[in-house]
Amino acid sequence: MSKQDKIKQLIDLRTEAKLGGGEKKIESQHRKGKMTARERIEILLDEGSFEEYDMFVTHRCTNFGMEKKKVLGDGVVTGAGTIDGRVVYVYAQDFTVFGGSLSEPFAKKICKVMDMAMKVGAPIIGINDSGGARIQEGVTSLAGYADIFQRNIMSSGVIPQISAIFGPCAGGAVYSPALTDFIMMTENTSYMFVTGPKVVKTVTGEDITTEDLGGAHVHASKSGVSHFLLEDEEEGLLLIRKLISYLPQNNLEEPPALECNDPIDRLDDALNEIIPESANQPYDIKDIIHSLVDNDEFLEVHRNYAKNIVVGFARFDGMSVGIVANQPSFLAGVLDIDASRKAARFVRFCDAFNVPILTLVDVPGFLPGSSQEYGGIIIHGAKLMFAYGEATVPKVTITLRKSYGGAHDVMSSKQLRGDINYAWPTAEIAVMGAQGAVEVLYGRELAAIDNEEERAKFVAEKEAEYKEKFANPYQAASMGYIDDVIEPRNSRFRIIRAFEMLQTKKDSNPPKKHSNIPL
Ligand code: HXC
Repeated sequence: MSKQDKIKQLIDLRTEAKLGGGEKKIESQHRKGKMTARERIEILLDEGSFEEYDMFVTHRCTNFGMEKKKVLGDGVVTGAGTIDGRVVYVYAQDFTVFGGSLSEPFAKKICKVMDMAMKVGAPIIGINDSGGARIQEGVTSLAGYADIFQRNIMSSGVIPQISAIFGPCAGGAVYSPALTDFIMMTENTSYMFVTGPKVVKTVTGEDITTEDLGGAHVHASKSGVSHFLLEDEEEGLLLIRKLISYLPQNNLEEPPALECNDPIDRLDDALNEIIPESANQPYDIKDIIHSLVDNDEFLEVHRNYAKNIVVGFARFDGMSVGIVANQPSFLAGVLDIDASRKAARFVRFCDAFNVPILTLVDVPGFLPGSSQEYGGIIIHGAKLMFAYGEATVPKVTITLRKSYGGAHDVMSSKQLRGDINYAWPTAEIAVMGAQGAVEVLYGRELAAIDNEEERAKFVAEKEAEYKEKFANPYQAASMGYIDDVIEPRNSRFRIIRAFEMLQTKKDSNPPKKHSNIPL
């Protein structure tokens, strides 16, 4: 073969590999409203930055006539590229080739880029769209999955791992995304479940659709498995780019700081008025978040799950910051099982990747009731406490209104190594709210009053006395638990200054193999 012929052969092979399962399969993929693996990568990465590896890999299976069906690349596209000039590693399962099913070489390709991501110290992004283990290969694909799982585990807390689910993801295959930091799912075209509707019907008799069992809405709102609900794939791919912009390349680096054109001393008079007169009246914490952060930009994580707590990324003077905030407009911002798990996971992510944490507190306490107790609120609430207490990143906390009982301690209190704890003048830092306190303190007296009017008068007097004494930030400030009481409209400036001063903060935990967080 002449040199020219050899080069032509290379070009032809590349063209063949790029077609994956062929035109018909690509058309079918498009008809389902899905992109191909390569189309996805093109949107995800900076233009022209993709370096593909292992394009010529094929499977070695000879069962069921498979030796006659070989496709270059074997159903997964892998390589490296850049997002805003920063290196990321990527793999995208190609449904057009054997339904994106995982063979032994397919798994090896994924493991190769996972290993490279760890060596280089760069994020890994996995795009999932697969029928699961390649049935013709038998157990070798199970080993392949386990090789990936082990790498997910070793990479956890070292490099950011992001999973996009753009098609089927079922059976044991769900556990690779589950081991990563963030999962996103597209409406109508993606699903995740350990066992599908047919098995569910056989085992439990339950009739349920794929969408209702493991669709994007279910995992975004009910299970919390998915952090982001996407209308379509393009939204997801651009979201990954945005998410990456808040994160460092690995756990030894700081998140990138961007130029900030939003004045750091911007006052917002509306914040002085935002807390309602009545302690029982809700307001939207997101209005406050949007007012405080650079350029009104907040990337909310888990928007549809446990809405009583809000978490997400923003910037202050260009610095990346994770925000955790109770949401008074949903279940009064109470801490329940789901909210505790959601926030604990977010706090741990931020701490692992050197993202400072801002906590905005307006919490009436933990949600009472047998369903919460039976579900283990004690253990789940402890997760959040553990996450805050273990975190060594800079932690700035502002108590806006209620901060009662155990929930006060949990929400990044001074004693859980909160670095700077501010309060607004509207803060109420106490063991409990006035109504509950009066019921406990004066139970006997109240029982002895028959007259309804007299009773109400007695309650009002005692509540007023309690509020006067405790429904403010000054008892906590007098003890040094609160570093300063600040004017709400000036909060942005005070937050930025606090984080700037904390930039060189060093804190550590005692040497240990690992902690035993209450799981
Ligand atoms: C081999 C597979 C495959 C698989 C799909 N294909 N899944 N080939 N192994 N697991 C092939 C199909 O034969 C078909 O090939 C092509 O991919 C497209 O599949 P269709 O069925 O035509 O597509 P669609 O109608 O969209 O249905 C997609 C699907 C379905 C719902 C994913 O294919 C399906 O149910 N597949 C089997 C899923 C499964 O049971 N997987 C094993 C799970 S156990 P042709 O040649 O006809 O185009 C598992 C264990 C993991 O994964 C354990 C980890 C620890």
